[in-house]
Amino acid sequence: ASPVIRALRGRLLWFVGDPEVAGEAAYRFVEDGLLVIENGLVKATGEASALLRALPADAEIVDHRPHLIMPGFIDAHIHMPQTQVVASYGAQLMDWLNKYTFVEEQKLSQQGHAEKLSRFFLDELLANGTTTAAVYCSVHPQSAEAFFTESQRRNTRMIAGKVMMDRNAPEALTDTAESGYRDSKALIARWHGKGRQLYAITPRFAITSTPEQLAAAGRLAAEHPDCHVQTHIDENRAEITFARELYPEAADYADIYRRHGLLGPKSLMGHCIHMTHNEWSAFAETGAVAVFCPTSNLFLGSGLFDWAHARQRGVKVAVATDIGGGTSYSMLRTMAEAYKVLQLQGQSLSAFAALHAITRGNAAALGLDHLIGSFEPGREADVVVLDTGATRAMAHRMETVRDLAEELFVLVTLGDERNIAATYVMGELVAGASFSGGA
Ligand code: GUN
Ligand code: ZN
Repeated sequence: ASPVIRALRGRLLWFVGDPEVAGEAAYRFVEDGLLVIENGLVKATGEASALLRALPADAEIVDHRPHLIMPGFIDAHIHMPQTQVVASYGAQLMDWLNKYTFVEEQKLSQQGHAEKLSRFFLDELLANGTTTAAVYCSVHPQSAEAFFTESQRRNTRMIAGKVMMDRNAPEALTDTAESGYRDSKALIARWHGKGRQLYAITPRFAITSTPEQLAAAGRLAAEHPDCHVQTHIDENRAEITFARELYPEAADYADIYRRHGLLGPKSLMGHCIHMTHNEWSAFAETGAVAVFCPTSNLFLGSGLFDWAHARQRGVKVAVATDIGGGTSYSMLRTMAEAYKVLQLQGQSLSAFAALHAITRGNAAALGLDHLIGSFEPGREADVVVLDTGATRAMAHRMETVRDLAEELFVLVTLGDERNIAATYVMGELVAGASFSGGA
């Protein structure tokens, strides 16, 4: 049985604001800090010397010094059925979908396959320090059922949904406007708000849904305004041309979703690379979230996300791996590639901004910052412990860093799952170098 109070000792780092707005005032850093967790929630943070004296005698203290202790990472867009699609050669979006993705996704109709992939997927996220993700399952309702069952067992806070697709995909991967609505509705009733599970209404993208299906998805969103909506937009030129042909009455790609009631503050819109002025305006007006997936955008040759422009236009930005278009489960690797995408456009991204993006920034973009993403009292104690010198090359480079900003920039630029010393979910150890096995 685990103790009621567990305290993690180490170098605490978390955000209370946005570093690109508030600068130094955006983060809290405690060199010899204590994170006190009671019944899975953050109870207190501060100097270890002061807090240790106030702990009850039966509290368990885990000494992670000299490692960094941060809120668990958040991935705002990832595909559970694509763990065996990742690293598929030689294609851009539409060919990649037809040649690789739709082939693998059909296997989720096989007995036990969604269960197997969900177990692997959650193991892999936790090994990478990711404790929350917005997840696409396959078209099969059973894939979402399997995923939520596995997430519930691990008590992870996950957002997920069954994909809706009723055209331009293999027969075996399509539902109908009616069945997609009905199956999604049943999954919402079963899983949304059950424990830590949250449902996302998931029409794959305009190309694979008829207008009838997008209307049904919009009806679901109106009936369940506390559910997220997740889909793809403006990722690839050929995709945009095809989407515009399928919806000639819409003013632009964003307008396809907007006129079907799918653009709102809970809408997580993957990619947003080739956006027009009016599309950015629609995002700013509706509060829709632009989800930046750097490793995917580079791997599929999709293009460069304009971070500075999105922010100037007042659009919420989230960051994500987009496995299996993306090439790494690590949010550190993801932000290293984000930095390079910005570099190619003459923009910059500080280590503080990067680490904010994958914790409090994503939590706020998902509307979950009252629950996760920081160490303010009452937050769910999802935690990642980072060894910034875990590899030979990193330990060697760390010999010359002069301050925290430099150390964190090396961590973001060179880091990956090898830097994850431990991951905790609601205060329970679930992964990392110091983890010896699961339940
Ligand atoms: N657009 C529609 N489906 C997908 C997908 O699975 N991955 C990516 N990257 N883009 C998409
Ligand atoms: Zn995607």
